[in-house]
Amino acid sequence: MQIGSIDTGAAVRLAPMADVSNVPFRLIARRCGSGMTTSEEVDAEALIHESVRARRTAEFLPEERPVALQLLGGRAESMAEAANRLQDLGADMIDVNMGCPVRKIVKKGKGSALMRDLPRTAEILSSLRKVLAIPLTIKIRGGWDDEHLNAVEVAQLAESEGVDAITVHPRTRSQQFTGLAPWQIIGDVVDAVNIPVTGNGDVDSMAEARRMMAETNCQAVMIGRGAMGRPWVFSDEYESLGREAQDEYRLNVISEHMELIEEHLDERRALIQMKKNLSWYISTGWRARFRRRELFECATAPEAWDVFRRYWDLRLFEEEKLAAAAG
Ligand SMILES: Cc1cc2nc3c(=O)[nH]c(=O)nc-3n(C[C@H](O)[C@H](O)[C@H](O)COP(=O)(O)O)c2cc1C
Repeated sequence: MQIGSIDTGAAVRLAPMADVSNVPFRLIARRCGSGMTTSEEVDAEALIHESVRARRTAEFLPEERPVALQLLGGRAESMAEAANRLQDLGADMIDVNMGCPVRKIVKKGKGSALMRDLPRTAEILSSLRKVLAIPLTIKIRGGWDDEHLNAVEVAQLAESEGVDAITVHPRTRSQQFTGLAPWQIIGDVVDAVNIPVTGNGDVDSMAEARRMMAETNCQAVMIGRGAMGRPWVFSDEYESLGREAQDEYRLNVISEHMELIEEHLDERRALIQMKKNLSWYISTGWRARFRRRELFECATAPEAWDVFRRYWDLRLFEEEKLAAAAG
């Protein structure tokens, strides 16, 4: 997909997720086949006030390019200033978060609150367009609630303000992450605008991504929760492998992911991220829950890796036993 002058690569790509889609996760998703990725949300005001956390969230590596940095905010002035900073830091694209449903965010007029304040949204987008030479995108929801399904109206407004592409996660703010995402709304937005649309919501395989594109005509798909603990979801090659080769592929990806975490995060954050991601990788099998608990008690990275490897080897052993018994 082409957004402005940027080729986003593969049509299926990782969705932005706070505390998940950090540098190591974005890199491993890219290596598995994801197209361009988007950072976790960066709070505009925190960035302007030199918050260490916001500045760190905006970091990316040259090898990630092209990369979109996502801004969260509710005031045109601070959004424009923050966007300018991100542009100076070398962002290839700025994405505006118009979907975050968290109460304390919404109360400050940010995230999905923008879906019900169109004058403010127009003011923000227009001020961003003025300061940005790079592409500007937005990520929206279906609307605020079932009585206010205004994704089409918001998308048309954005197009008229010079936005280059839109991602639609069609649940409403009230739905948060419950119920099924009504894909029809993605199709409605595709029909209503002339800029590229990325669909998002409940996709957990390449086959489902292809189905979303076929049903809605969206040009690309973002996968969020379906990639947590499963970055190989972006790999066409993985899908075509036999069981043993898939196990080997997964183990290689998991160990590469852990190496990336250790390489790019400080010791404290690396341990937190290792435990969190390894617990997702410990998904099924006998004593998985017990192993996960053990994992969270680990004090060092090698200990955590050791717990995971014991789980992994035992799981393979159990599966072989089951396969042998089934004859
Ligand atoms: C843990 C978590 C964090 C998220 N953080 C963000 C975020 O920072 N910015 C954003 O636009 N969406 C965020 N989202 C929403 C996802 O990008 C995506 O729209 C949503 O999960 C639906 O897609 P899925 O069904 O593929 O998960 C987050 C979702 C989750 C589960």
